Amino acid sequence: MQLSKKIPSLQKLVLALIVLGKLHLVDAQSSPDRSTEAGEAAITDPNQECSSYDYPPVSSQIGSFPPQWEKATILANDSAAQAKWASINGSIPTNISVKTQPPPSSYSSDDPDCWWTYNLCTTPKLSGLSPDVSAAPEPSTLGYGFDDGPNCSHNAFYDFLQSQNQKATFYFIGSNVADWPLEAQRALADGHEICAHTWSHPYMTTFASENVFAELWYCMQMIKLAVGVTPTCWRPPYGDVDDRVRSIAHALGLQTIMWEYDTEDASVNGKSVTDQTVVTNYQDFINTAKNGTFNSTGAILLTHELNNFTMSEAVSFYPQLKSTFQHIVPVGVSLNKTQPYVESNYSLPTFEQYIAGTVTTNGTRISPNDTSGSSTPSDSASAPSPSASATRSGAASSNAASETKMHVYGTFWLVVSLLTLCSLW
Ligand SMILES: *[C@@H]1O[C@H](CO)[C@@H](O)[C@H](O)[C@H]1NC(C)=O
Ligand SMILES: *[C@@H]1O[C@H](CO)[C@@H](O)[C@H](O)[C@H]1NC(C)=O
Ligand SMILES: *[C@@H]1O[C@H](CO)[C@@H](O)[C@H](O)[C@H]1NC(C)=O
Ligand SMILES: *[C@@H]1O[C@H](CO)[C@@H](O)[C@H](O)[C@H]1NC(C)=O
Ligand SMILES: *[C@@H]1O[C@H](CO)[C@@H](O)[C@H](O)[C@H]1NC(C)=O
Ligand SMILES: *[C@@H]1O[C@H](CO)[C@@H](O)[C@H](O)[C@H]1NC(C)=O
Ligand SMILES: *[C@@H]1O[C@H](CO)[C@@H](O)[C@H](O)[C@H]1NC(C)=O
Ligand SMILES: *[C@@H]1O[C@H](CO)[C@@H](O)[C@H](O)[C@H]1NC(C)=O
Ligand SMILES: *[C@@H]1O[C@H](CO)[C@@H](O)[C@H](O)[C@H]1NC(C)=O
Ligand SMILES: *[C@@H]1O[C@H](CO)[C@@H](O)[C@H](O)[C@H]1NC(C)=O
Ligand SMILES: *[C@@H]1O[C@H](CO)[C@@H](O)[C@H](O)[C@H]1NC(C)=O
Ligand SMILES: [Zn+2]
Repeated sequence: MQLSKKIPSLQKLVLALIVLGKLHLVDAQSSPDRSTEAGEAAITDPNQECSSYDYPPVSSQIGSFPPQWEKATILANDSAAQAKWASINGSIPTNISVKTQPPPSSYSSDDPDCWWTYNLCTTPKLSGLSPDVSAAPEPSTLGYGFDDGPNCSHNAFYDFLQSQNQKATFYFIGSNVADWPLEAQRALADGHEICAHTWSHPYMTTFASENVFAELWYCMQMIKLAVGVTPTCWRPPYGDVDDRVRSIAHALGLQTIMWEYDTEDASVNGKSVTDQTVVTNYQDFINTAKNGTFNSTGAILLTHELNNFTMSEAVSFYPQLKSTFQHIVPVGVSLNKTQPYVESNYSLPTFEQYIAGTVTTNGTRISPNDTSGSSTPSDSASAPSPSASATRSGAASSNAASETKMHVYGTFWLVVSLLTLCSLW
């Protein structure tokens, strides 16, 4: 039977109302607030998350940074960077050569430079440098963290971590922070720890010392500009670090964070590394944990906030990691590093506090359900960061509430319309 012939005009009107109601829903959901951390964090469509937006506190200053994704150099008019470099240059070794990749056969098998890429060295030979952190010191503890963010479509992943009340360490690339400053802000607002992961993600040992400095400096400055905090930890891209690079990081107040286990989640190429390789690596790591390997000293596993695959694997393996390790904590928490940033008004809980249930202290949202925060993070260039009194939880929950309202509204119209249709048929 032909439906259209059977519909009287009143029913057409009702159908039109349904369509209008639906259009209204679509319209309301497709215009999110792209100017605040809270607005950005509420977007659920990954394509929308990844469409670019302008954030003036960062875009207005981008001229004071090197071109994104290019080897960083100290800008000619950047007197602050020049002064800092001049103050540390004298302490950087000049007898450690700039490297090539992969390590050449001419490199001494004694590994005089403690070059991780050569033989996984993490205990510097140059005096004055602390060993790299490559495991969480606490027993049966996973130092949890993700490299290469912020990824534009990370809301599903961060929402998942929030639902688990789980905090992690995020190693942010400066060039990504410049593109996605509100995503970077979310890490702090959610109570995660932020470390630097260079400006353009190079093999750091292949750069001259001044460029090594600039890669770290501009990453730190971009995180400060976009998020409001200056990191005190970093992770070398590809783990490529030696004592020359370590000494520059050290002079900038950056602790070097490595790993001992690698999921290879960022290396999938469909050939030597497949999706299945990554699954197997996760499973091997979990089996290693299960046999007591981390009973006296915990672990750090290399995983990435790089794309949907790496974040999806993190979500899917979280329950197994959670049931295998006694504790999963940000690396800084495993180190009792209560002051994670140069700015002293932010703190992390101690390991003891974290495992007792206090997963954040000040500087972050108080609880995922807290509705006391009503203001949104400031947009000003000097202080764009979310603060304790201005968490995004209030805004996020009111957004969730309005979404729920829209669903109730839509369903209401659907039911009324169907009832009307039936009664008039
Ligand atoms: C440096 O010069 C660039 C233009 O080349 C400009 O955009 C930027 O604002 C200047 N930075 C400082 C710190 O003066
Ligand atoms: C850095 O130090 C080296 C030698 O230690 C010196 O040749 C160079 O001029 C210095 N560079 C700056 C910018 O101070
Ligand atoms: C480089 O020189 C320092 C002293 O400045 C010395 O302690 C170190 O062993 C030297 N390193 C290498 C690799 O020769
Ligand atoms: C646990 O498993 C790992 C990986 O299979 C192995 O290298 C290690 O020796 C095992 N340790 C113990 C205590 O069984
Ligand atoms: C590791 O700790 C677990 C739980 O305490 C224990 O059952 C297991 O025997 C330990 N394994 C090793 C290798 O020490
Ligand atoms: C983020 O992840 C998405 C989804 O996998 C990917 O398409 C995009 O290239 C990533 N973007 C960045 C900036 O990492
Ligand atoms: C991966 O992409 C799918 C499809 O867009 C999305 O539903 C899912 O939430 C994403 N997962 C993560 C962890 O980002
Ligand atoms: C962290 O603090 C606790 C409690 O004081 C202590 O037992 C633990 O050894 C500390 N861990 C580190 C890595 O300093
Ligand atoms: C945050 O905590 C640190 C360390 O406990 C403290 O020094 C600082 O005053 C606190 N800041 C605020 C804003 O509460
Ligand atoms: C920390 O201090 C900075 C600079 O004064 C300020 O912008 C920020 O809101 C403060 N954060 C907290 C959590 O108090
Ligand atoms: C937050 O709310 C959810 C759902 O209402 C609840 O399951 C969870 O326990 C709450 N979390 C806290 C920390 O209160
Ligand atoms: Zn990386």
